Order: sequence, then structure tokens, then C-alpha cells
Amino acid sequence: MGERCRAGGRRKVGDKSSLLVLNKTGIFCNVKVPRSLPLRYLLGRIGVPLGLILTVALPGSVLAQVPAPLPEPTPAIVTARTFRNFDSADFIGAVGCSSSICHGGGPSPITASTVVVGDRNAFTIWKTRDAHAKSWATLATERSARMAAAIGAGKPQETARCTECHAPMQAVNASRIGPLSRVEDGISCESCHGPAKSWIRSHTRRDLTHAQNVTTGLRDLGSLYVRANTCIACHQVLPPDLQKAGHPPLVFELDAQSVAEPKHWKESGDWRGPQAWLVGQAAALRETSWALNKRDSSGDLEREQWRSLLWLLRKTTNTLADFPKFEYLTDIEMSPGNLARAQGTADELARTASARPWDATTTRRVLDTLAASDGDFAPGKEAPLALQNKAVRLTLALSRLMAPFQARDKGRWAKPSEEMQKLFMTMDARADFDAAKFADQLRAFQKSLAYAGPDDGVPKQTAAR
Ligand code: HEC
Ligand code: HEC
Ligand code: HEC
Repeated sequence: MGERCRAGGRRKVGDKSSLLVLNKTGIFCNVKVPRSLPLRYLLGRIGVPLGLILTVALPGSVLAQVPAPLPEPTPAIVTARTFRNFDSADFIGAVGCSSSICHGGGPSPITASTVVVGDRNAFTIWKTRDAHAKSWATLATERSARMAAAIGAGKPQETARCTECHAPMQAVNASRIGPLSRVEDGISCESCHGPAKSWIRSHTRRDLTHAQNVTTGLRDLGSLYVRANTCIACHQVLPPDLQKAGHPPLVFELDAQSVAEPKHWKESGDWRGPQAWLVGQAAALRETSWALNKRDSSGDLEREQWRSLLWLLRKTTNTLADFPKFEYLTDIEMSPGNLARAQGTADELARTASARPWDATTTRRVLDTLAASDGDFAPGKEAPLALQNKAVRLTLALSRLMAPFQARDKGRWAKPSEEMQKLFMTMDARADFDAAKFADQLRAFQKSLAYAGPDDGVPKQTAAR
């Protein structure tokens, strides 16, 4: 335990906000995760779940789980009094956030058309629509049982081999868990926002800013670097035996996965998507570098994920002035030294990309550069698995880089959109990936960019009103 705490403390984090957050995660040092697991370090460093506020009226079902009935204070003093019972617990539990005057508002059952995104219904959205609320139930399926049996683990809901990602509260010391916190909640509020003990009361105060709440331990998920570190703890590195046992392969891509998660928050800025993409890919390279260096044996897939990420980020950073680059890695042998260097540069890149401003011109430049990489898909040049992994990362990249342009001007981006769909199809043919076909389609996509014009994303003409 102590060792992990120190490892966490030593890790260099330049981003000011994340420094605060990660420092606060001293408490994560108590998270128990078996030594042999690859996420051990990550979970120790980044931490897992969370909880929140219990304000006024608790639903009857909640009260039923609380040892003594809670007082019914007036709203002004609610949080302080209500939480007296939980003072000793770091994790409060999702139900602690679910009061209708906190984050459990909104119509229920909620439908896509009735959701108004915002603070008030974060719980409702998570509970009814977010895959994370169902991750514990997933472990009860036949498919999960087969997977666990194949790796010689016990019942999926009882083995850390599965719960470390699907039900992270399972590994937390009982003494740190409040009476409302339940393993069954799977990946809940505190898994992403941080254990709520230190900030549950103060975060409701209207006179405190988000930055001030962050200093009391609320994780700063508005920082793309902090967010990437949070999600990637579960979304990239998968032990090879789980891979062989039929677990879905994990490919982390922060932008698309942030879009895919049913939103309980609002995202700011048109160009944040491509920026999130770059931060996420850099974090993915850092994590695969780390995992390959730590593990005795590594799966082919993971090795190719590493190569393809390095390839992608090398191309990308070569077009960006003053960003960390990978040129010094002249050979891409996975020697311990190269892996360690790639890990360091990738982390630096993730932090840099998170901190620097990002705009339309940058997005377009990277899009054009990557779209011109058909020459790298010559069949026979590399193993099919290598080419396919490059195709996966590249297609994800191109689609995220063009997304904000498409959103601004569907008409001009209609042709590239069509070609992108076809590109996805050639990349998706997992069983028999055809590199030559992919390269052809990539050329077609690149040509189609001319239809959209060489612009910076700002429509040339503003429609007269
Ligand atoms: C504690 C581990 C953990 C963390 C942290 C985590 N996830 Fe997940 N995520 C999972 C698991 C496990 C599933 C699969 C749930 C299921 O279907 O049983 C999942 C599923 C998803 C899905 C649905 C499946 C898909 O790919 O469409 C999305 C989207 C997603 N996560 C995005 C995110 C984002 C964005 C973050 C960070 C803000 C994040 N996750 C943080 C473990 C985690
Ligand atoms: C490193 C973290 C991690 C570990 C360990 C892990 N999973 Fe997962 N699992 C995920 C994530 C993330 C997803 C979502 C993948 C996606 O769709 O992008 C997922 C998806 C799944 C799915 C598919 C869910 C669906 O609806 O399609 C099943 C089933 C599953 N996991 C079972 C297991 C079992 C059983 C174990 C243990 C033997 C396990 N997982 C261990 C992270 C993990
Ligand atoms: C998989 C990770 C994840 C989980 C689980 C999660 N959140 Fe969030 N949440 C985020 C991210 C990412 C943001 C965006 C942060 C930002 O941009 O500042 C966010 C933002 C928020 C916000 C701010 C909304 C806004 O519009 O700014 C609230 C409130 C919130 N979450 C509450 C909750 C509650 C309550 C739960 C549990 C019921 C929960 N979250 C579960 C990742 C998560």
C-alpha cells in the first residue's frame, strides 16, 4: 500500500489542476487490487469511484438502508447534518447523489427527447441510460461466466479480475465505504468524480467555484488530461488472457467515448473534440508503453496497438509546432528503454495537448496530414495485424477530426462524410482486413476533402437573415 502511495506521489504531473487532484488521491492508496494485475498502478494512482450529496428528502428505499433515520433539517443546514453519519467514509455511494433536488431530477422514466442535460438530472441519466450503471449486471451474464472460467477466475462478480473495472467498489476497504454505497452500482459517480467525503458538503455552495471545489478533492474532469487519466484506467489496457478469453478488445479514444456516453454534462467549445482525441491517444500510448514494459508476456494485439499509436502520434506531432515529438525513437523496437521513453514523451504530449489552445486551423492541418498516409498501407510491408491496427487508429482519428466541421456545415462536408462511412466499413472488416482496399478508400477520402474546401472551418458566407 505505502509503496503505491509513494509511486503515485512521485509521478510527475505538470498540469496544475491535475496536480491538485492527484495529490488529493492519497486516499486511493488504500484501494486494494491484486499485485499481478496491470491496472494495479493505475488504480492506485488515479483512483476509482465516488458518491455525492444527500440533501433533503431521501427516498424511502434509501432510508431503509440507513441504520438510523436521518434528521430532516431545513435545507440550509442539510448537507452538514445529513452527512454527519458518513464522516468516516470516503465513498458515499451513487444514491447519495440521487435526491431530486440534487442530481436525481428530471422526468422518469427518462427518454432521449425529454432529457435536459445539466446538474439536476445527472443521476437520472446515469441510472437509466449509462452503460456504467449496468457494469455489475454484465458480470452476471452467461458470457461473463464463460470468460471468467476461461481464465481460471471465480465468479465474475466476486473476482477482482473482473470487478477491478466493472465494479471498482468491490476492492475498496469496507472502512472507507459509507452505508449507502453499493458494489452493485458498478461504475458510479465517485468512480469518475472521486470519493466524495472531502467535497460532498462544500460542492453545493453557490459561493464556491469549480476550481475551489477541485482544491477540496472533486476531480477536475473539465481538464482533458485528468479526464483521459480517469477513463483510461479501465478503457485501454486489458490483460492478454482476458483478451484470449473473448473479452471485447479495448481501444481507448477519449473524444468518441465521451460523445458515446449519455451526456450528463455540457461540453464547451467547438474544437474540444479533436483536442480530446489527441490527449486521449497520447494517454493510450503512455498506458500501453507502461503495460508492455511491466508485463512478462504481452498479447500481439497490445504490441500492435502500441506500434500503431506511436505511428499515429509521430505523424500528428510532426505537424504541430512546439509539441513533444517522438523523432528520437529511431527504431520502434519494444526494448524496455524505448518503451520507457515513449511512455514519458506520451505523458508530456497528453499534458501539452490538454493545456494548449486548439483551433480549426490546427484541426484541419492534422486532418489533411493524416488523410495523406495511404502510402503506409502497402500490403506486405507489415504484418496484417499491424496494418489493421494502424487502420483502426487512423479511421478513428480522421472521423473525430472532421466531426466539428461536419457539425458546422453538413452540405459542404457531405462528400467526405460519405467516403468516411466507406472507410469505416473497410476498417471494420475485422476478420479479413484488406490493406490494399483500405488504402484505395483512404485515397478516395483524401480526394473528397477538396469538396469541403481548404477552409479553416468558418463558413465562407454567413447566411443572410
Ligand atoms: C472504473 C472503470 C471505468 C471508468 C473509470 C470508466 N469506464 Fe467506461 N466502461 C467501463 C466498463 C466496465 C464498461 C462496460 C459496461 C458494461 O456494458 O457492462 C464501460 C462502458 C463505457 C461506454 C459504453 C461502451 C462503449 O464503448 O460504447 C462508454 C461510452 C464509456 N464507458 C465511456 C467512458 C468515459 C468517457 C469515461 C471517462 C469519463 C469512462 N468510460 C470511465 C469502465 C470504466
Ligand atoms: C481493464 C478493465 C476491464 C477488466 C479487467 C474487465 N473488463 Fe469487461 N469491459 C471493460 C470495458 C471498458 C468494457 C466496454 C468495452 C467497450 O464496449 O468499449 C467491457 C465490456 C465487457 C463486456 C461486454 C459488455 C457488453 O454489453 O457488450 C463483458 C461481457 C465483460 N466486459 C465482461 C468482463 C468479465 C467477465 C471480466 C472478468 C473476467 C471483465 N469483463 C474484466 C473493462 C474491463
Ligand atoms: C464515466 C465517468 C462518469 C461517471 C460515472 C459520472 N460522471 Fe459526472 N461527469 C463526468 C464528466 C467527464 C463530466 C464533465 C466534466 C467537465 O467537463 O467539467 C461530468 C460532469 C458532471 C456534472 C457537471 C454537469 C455540467 O453540466 O457541468 C455533474 C453535476 C455530474 N457530472 C454529476 C454526476 C453524478 C451525480 C454521477 C453519478 C450518478 C456522475 N456524475 C457520474 C464523468 C462521469
